[in-house]
Amino acid sequence: MNAQPRRVEHQQTDKGSVPVYTTAVIEQPWSTYRTEDHATWAALFLRQREILQHRAAREFIENQKKFGMTPDAIPKFDDLNKVLRKATGWELIGVEGLLPELTFFDHLANRRFPVTWWIRRPDQIDYISEPDLFHDLFGHVPLLLNPVFADYMQAYGKGGVKAHGIGADALVNLTRLYWYSVEFGLIKQDDGLRIYGSGIVSSKGESIHCLESPAPNRIGFDLERIMRTRYRIDTYQKTYFVIDSYEQLMKATEPDFTPIYARLGAQDSIPAGQIVQSDFVYNRGSGEGWSNDGDV
Ligand code: PHE
Ligand code: FE
Repeated sequence: MNAQPRRVEHQQTDKGSVPVYTTAVIEQPWSTYRTEDHATWAALFLRQREILQHRAAREFIENQKKFGMTPDAIPKFDDLNKVLRKATGWELIGVEGLLPELTFFDHLANRRFPVTWWIRRPDQIDYISEPDLFHDLFGHVPLLLNPVFADYMQAYGKGGVKAHGIGADALVNLTRLYWYSVEFGLIKQDDGLRIYGSGIVSSKGESIHCLESPAPNRIGFDLERIMRTRYRIDTYQKTYFVIDSYEQLMKATEPDFTPIYARLGAQDSIPAGQIVQSDFVYNRGSGEGWSNDGDV
């Protein structure tokens, strides 16, 4: 494929910013990255590496080193794939932006991880509302080297294809699980809570907030509870869920979700910041700075 891939971003409309979806799989146009793009990568990489030193999960840091990711230049997908294919059989594929749900699930179910080819503009260094190359590569790719997590991601993809066939409510339940594990998950390690969620590791502010702020709840992982819990897309999370291990994540999600979806259908959702009686609470959030509406 020779055509220059498009940069598919959220569109500004009178209703605010709306996502645009695309299904193309493209070759990473590495030679078209400008000095400015490599500089954005370098700035984000150096800043996050510093912040995450004692905050990210041990294997996240180790795996990033195994990939040979450096601040010097935007990594080439081909180079990362040499390491990844051999380790867990996963493969990175280049995409132009957000994928429709079913397309995304199908890639995961086949151990293909979609990575946005373009990187954010300099004025978006601190915040961008959609996934870009930095979020996808720096945030998601390291844990694909972990065999258990790699299997979890594939199982999630297969579960997504299934949920898509069941209906919209099932997809809502499943998406909350992705949000609270893959994107915003914490893990308990010997020396305390650490981050493994990609949405956190690619954010300067949230990397510190999720562990150090008294505001959010930190609660033990509980599958059905999570699948009922609404979340935030435009502020830091009000609640983070803590796993003991990736094996726990794998085990808890092994059962057939069909009866779970049926059961959850009859229950109310839980607001993003609410504690419920069955929760194992590491930290009861002070709620400082929370806005009252906006859970999705
Ligand atoms: N076990 C789930 C199902 O039957 C699939 C799944 C696995 C979902 C892992 C999420 C994570 O639907
Ligand atoms: Fe993501």
